[in-house]
Amino acid sequence: MSTSTETAPNIHVFDDAEAVARAAAERIVDLANAAKQEKGSFSIALAGGSTPRRVYELLASEDFANRVEWRHVHVFFGDERCVPPSHADSNYRMANESLLSRAPLPEMNVHAMTGEGDAVANARLYEDDLREFFDGASWPAFDLILLGMGDDGHTASLFPGTEALGERTAWVVANWVDKFKSFRITLTAPAINHAARIMFIVTGAGKADRLPQILGGERDPQHLPSQLIRPESGALDWYLDEAAAAKL
Ligand code: 6PG
Repeated sequence: MSTSTETAPNIHVFDDAEAVARAAAERIVDLANAAKQEKGSFSIALAGGSTPRRVYELLASEDFANRVEWRHVHVFFGDERCVPPSHADSNYRMANESLLSRAPLPEMNVHAMTGEGDAVANARLYEDDLREFFDGASWPAFDLILLGMGDDGHTASLFPGTEALGERTAWVVANWVDKFKSFRITLTAPAINHAARIMFIVTGAGKADRLPQILGGERDPQHLPSQLIRPESGALDWYLDEAAAAKL
């Protein structure tokens, strides 16, 4: 039974996608430094897709990179496509090109999901990696998880009508997505909901119809999986541009 305390989401609306990316990068730097101060390290799970690329580029840029002590940052992934890391669809590739290969991050601090091969085994391997990092915790306690939202209301690789939506115990699963005729590796909703902070970064008019349903509509997570994201005790922020927020 979920014990989430229904934290009301904080909704931040900015003029455009560049302003969203800049504000998100600023927030990530502040959170990284606060976590380093408080407990000596910062664990972040990256979102895939196209929207976060600009955030990652900014974090690796002159304006931001030297404001973070990267050796204390541990980078994980929220989901991955079942392709090799060199593939154009690989979330790892996108993150590597825009951030991981450009920021002074120790290689061993980067925890990529394996996209190639047996998806079920790869999901289990990644859960083992997380359980080792979060050392005996009952759920992973990421300092920050970044999420995007698809125009169908999916987040991470939690797609409408898929099996992973009902997962209650696993941290990571291989989720079969019929529209892609492929598995995706993804954190589960309970694993995401145990993060200290969750940040959705959503831009563009293509998302404007779905957002009111997610944030204020009927509860229907089977069709609107982003509704499954309700922090157990952490904070939930939505970083939106005017175009995405136009119908809120
Ligand atoms: C993925 C993502 C996915 C993404 C949304 C939004 O691997 O595709 O993790 O959940 O965040 O599909 O994608 P865009 O940012 O490209 O709109």
